[in-house]
Amino acid sequence: MKNKRAEFSSTFGVIAAAAGSAVGLGNIWKFPYITGVYGGAAFLFVYLGFILAIGLPVMLSEFIIGRKSRKNAFGAFKKLAPKSLWQFVGILGVGAAFMILAFYGVVAGWSIEYMFSAAMDGFSDKSPDQLGSMFGTFIESPLKPVFFQLIFMVLTGAIVIVGIKDGIEKNVKILMPILVVIIIVLDIRAITLPGAKEGLKFLFHPDFSKLTGEGVLSALGHAFFSLSLGMGTLITYGSYIDNKNNLLRTAVQVTTADTMIAILAGVAIFPAVFAFGIEPSSGPGLVFITLPNVFQQMPGGYIFSILFFLLLTVAALTSSISILEVVVAYFHEELKMKRKVATVFATILIALLGIICSLSMGIFKDYLFFDLNFFDLMDWISANLLLPLGGLFISLFIGWKFGRKKVRAEIEKGGSISELFLSTFMFLVKIVAPIAIAIVFLSGIGLLKI
Ligand code: TRP
Repeated sequence: MKNKRAEFSSTFGVIAAAAGSAVGLGNIWKFPYITGVYGGAAFLFVYLGFILAIGLPVMLSEFIIGRKSRKNAFGAFKKLAPKSLWQFVGILGVGAAFMILAFYGVVAGWSIEYMFSAAMDGFSDKSPDQLGSMFGTFIESPLKPVFFQLIFMVLTGAIVIVGIKDGIEKNVKILMPILVVIIIVLDIRAITLPGAKEGLKFLFHPDFSKLTGEGVLSALGHAFFSLSLGMGTLITYGSYIDNKNNLLRTAVQVTTADTMIAILAGVAIFPAVFAFGIEPSSGPGLVFITLPNVFQQMPGGYIFSILFFLLLTVAALTSSISILEVVVAYFHEELKMKRKVATVFATILIALLGIICSLSMGIFKDYLFFDLNFFDLMDWISANLLLPLGGLFISLFIGWKFGRKKVRAEIEKGGSISELFLSTFMFLVKIVAPIAIAIVFLSGIGLLKI
């Protein structure tokens, strides 16, 4: 008998896994920090526009490609468009997965370290400045961050080895809701701090004159990053979704949950940034410096701080497994490695790349590429180049190659859709998304002046 391919066991399992992939460091660490760097509300609004007009359609496209083909990111294109160049989209995705997980593991390692610091009461009685230099010293040191990054990578590899159902699905169902509750508690504390208003204004009152081409490109890149799009994660997960699942509904729910959590994280952070006089554009340390200040100012802050960094680590894990799964499914199905061997091999390679990312904050910080250290380079290339390009090809593929009829047939396996919806969707993937991505992309990298 042929081995049956793994599938998620329930509708809730599908949503939990896909939302688990989408919700992660992107929402809680990266979204606030780049919103701060690119000037606040105007960036947020552009980001939201991209989520709706491009992110949601591309997510549905990835689910369609995955479920129809029941293959990994590369195999999917090979099956749906044999002997064509489309397969390279899959290769691009596997490459992006390496880069993303390399720096992602480093930040997740910071989160583990902060969980221990919180447990040892390491934040109390420190001023905002002291918390800032504590973070700086920590990420620049050569050993500790590497150690925690490796721990995180081992955890990621271990869950992926156990497999889709037992490893991935079970873990995400329980922990995500708890994280949401904690963020809401933090929100309440943050917006009642003296001076909170300034922060809310920064986040919600747009000044579009602050927008730059690079800011718009980053908003697009982050829409892809946050929704786990553009490199085949949701193609791979889509390949484990059963035919009864309503793909459109799943995509809408995952997108909504992801966006809500990013905004909730922003609401927890910006009021506190202004209340404590932290620079909103202070970069990757923003969350790690701001929230410990908030914890100090709330009853039960000690417990909350431990729980928060624990759950942030878990949220990072449910995302990192989805990134590693892209590489493992590819190694296993295309390069015919045993699944376990593929997992160990991929984890080691990515962990090594991650060590370089970590060290580029400290001892390697003078090695710059286009003015970026290696960590920022991996982040920039993957989020701002590879994911938008991947998204561009995925929407072109669905719009022009796969086509309306098959799109309808695949979506309607799990629920009917209207003519109007189908036409809107096809218009978005055929025309709007590709043109928008191309323009943003070219002007963001400076090749087009608008
Ligand atoms: N979306 C996750 C986050 O916000 C990260 C992630 C998981 C990802 N899978 C991905 C990013 C695929 C890009 C592509 O933290």
